[in-house]
Parts: sequence; C-alpha cells; structure tokens
Amino acid sequence: MNLFTPFAQRSLSLRNRLVIAPMCQYSATDGVPSDWHLVHLGSRAVGGAGAVIVEATAVSAEGRISAGDVGLWNDEQLAAWQPITRFVTSQGAVAGVQLAHAGRKASVLPPWQGGHPLAADAGAWQTVAPSAIPFDAHWHVPQALDAAGIAKVIADFRAAAVRALEAGFQLIELHAAHGYLLHQFISPLSNHRTDEYGGSFENRTRLVREVIKAVREVWPEHLPLWLRVSATDWTEGGWDIEQSVQLARDIKSLGVDLVDTSSGGLVPHAKIPVSPGYQVPFASRIRHDAGIATGAVGLITESTHAARIIDEGAADVVLIARESLRDPYFPRRAAQELGVPITAPVQYQRAW
Ligand SMILES: Cc1cc2nc3c(=O)[nH]c(=O)nc-3n(C[C@H](O)[C@H](O)[C@H](O)COP(=O)(O)O)c2cc1C
Repeated sequence: MNLFTPFAQRSLSLRNRLVIAPMCQYSATDGVPSDWHLVHLGSRAVGGAGAVIVEATAVSAEGRISAGDVGLWNDEQLAAWQPITRFVTSQGAVAGVQLAHAGRKASVLPPWQGGHPLAADAGAWQTVAPSAIPFDAHWHVPQALDAAGIAKVIADFRAAAVRALEAGFQLIELHAAHGYLLHQFISPLSNHRTDEYGGSFENRTRLVREVIKAVREVWPEHLPLWLRVSATDWTEGGWDIEQSVQLARDIKSLGVDLVDTSSGGLVPHAKIPVSPGYQVPFASRIRHDAGIATGAVGLITESTHAARIIDEGAADVVLIARESLRDPYFPRRAAQELGVPITAPVQYQRAW
C-alpha cells in the first residue's frame, strides 16, 4: 500500500499521494478569492489530501479565463490568499497554486452561463496568443504576441511566483495544458509563428522553458515546481506524447520536479477516448522514458484504482478532481476502504 506513504519533494513532504486537482470556481471578484475559496479548499484539506492545488490562478487580468477567475497579479489578491493557505496547511495539506494564462481561451462566461466568449458590451477584453487563430468559430480572434508581449508574460509569471511565496503557497504548478497560453505555444496547431518562438520543437517550447527559468529564479530551491501538460492534442499534426516525453526530459534540468499529465483542450472537436484512467498510460510513459516524477489524473474515482496506479509505478501521485467535488473527504474514505489508519482532526475524532 503506497498511496498513503508520504511523497517527498525537495524539502516538502506530502502526507500521502492523493492531490486535489486544480478546479476553477469562477467565484472571485477582480481576481480576489472569497469565502467560497476558503471553505472549498479548506474542506478538501480537512478531507485528508496530501496537497490541495488551487485552480488556474491568473498571472495577469487579461490571462483570466473568465472575470470570476482568481489571480495573483496584485497585492490585494496576495493578502486574500494568506488566510486560505494558512488554513490549508494547518490541516496538514500542502497548499499549491496553479499559475496560468488563458491566452486565446480567455474572456468567456463561466460554464453555468454557457462558457461562451463574452460579448463586447458584457466586458470582453482583447485576448492574446502565439498566433491570431481563434479557438473555434465565433470565438475571440487573439492578438499575436510581439516580443514585448512575450516578455510581459514571462515577467507576469515571475511576479506571480514571488507573490505565491508571500501568500503562503508551498508548491507551484505551471499550467501548460488544456489549450491555454503555454499549450498554445507548444502545439503546432495553434502556433504558426515564424520567429524564434515558432516552427521547430525547440522554438515552440521556448516560452515554457523561459517561464520555468523565470519562476525558478524567484521560487525557492527548497520548494517544488510542477508542470501540467496535455500529453496529446488527440489530433493529427498536433502536440503528442513523443513531444511530451522530450519536453519532460528538457525541463527536468530546469528545476521542474513533476509532470502532471492531462490531455486535450487545444482544439474543440478532438475525439477523446474517455474511460476510467485513460490518461494514466501517458503519465507512465513520461515517468519511465523521461525519468521524472508524474501525476496521473482523469476519471480516477475509486480508492483501489488510485492505489493500483501508485503500486504499479505508473505515477507518483494521483490527482482527484470531480470525485472530490462529490466527496471532499475522498482521501479519508479511501484510507478507510484500503484499511489505512489516518488521524482525523481532533474536533472530529469522536466520529472516527
Ligand atoms: C469544475 C472544474 C474546474 C476545473 N478547472 C481546472 C483548472 O483550473 N486547471 C486545470 O488544469 N484543470 C482544471 N480542471 C480539470 C481537472 O483538474 C481534471 O484534470 C479533470 O477534471 C479530470 O479529472 P477528474 O476525472 O478527476 O475530474 C477542472 C475540472 C473541473 C471539473
């Protein structure tokens, strides 16, 4: 039983290998997290996870998916995160944050309002991307970033990492998956640039490497840095697992400690063969071929399945998203089902 053994990375130790995956709540005002975030993230820390990773947190206002996204581009946001990270860590979970820029998928409504691009009179903002190619018909046409725009993106990630530390986070995950800005750069389907940021694998991955380097310069040596990738676009001619393995090899030496392995999101109509654990083979490939720790995610809803992924060496951690919305105490339930004694908060011990 390895799922409930600690997972050490740099100076940090996760108490177990169940991690709450980043999940947008679309419930912030001006990027400032609210009481909702304290209760939502706090419950999942009480629920026993090894780490709780905060949703895609924008490094700039224009990098938000929706107007309700949280951010870390100013000090008001920084201060609002402090009580949240304090509570999460007080419950024994590592507080992680996913730093993100939505690129061409920015400026949309929250899913419960349809998720469509914002109308001009509803506060739409200019989106940016490697190339002026919209995500889909009727989506915003992004502005292709120029050199100054790219430099600003890198500086924004760096500044957000500085704020993340002061906000009390112990783990940063960079979002290079699901069709957001960094993924838009690495995929040939969304990056048609002819400068040093487009064309070859080396050029398409330049921005993600530069962001990693900038973040690593300010993020302490003793704290881990993770990268979330989409291992494949599930589309002919797109980003794929071979390129993901190569990227994982390249970023290891830049100070990335784990590749959180998801898939898809770059193009709207990809055919994705969804089934329980369907992305686990990608995590396993990257782990074995690139020699870096990985996280498995996607339709993992049962304790025995999560335990098997770790036991078989397919991944080092298992990220749980929707099952933890159905049951914020999923890690406690998993421990019970697997017969692993774990402590409950003292306030709850009469029930355990
Ligand atoms: C409500 C919701 C919000 C999400 N927001 C994010 C996000 O902010 N960043 C991200 O990388 N993935 C996000 N995801 C994807 C999840 O992290 C996860 O990869 C996906 O749901 C598959 O895992 P699951 O089958 O355990 O739900 C979101 C998923 C859900 C359901």
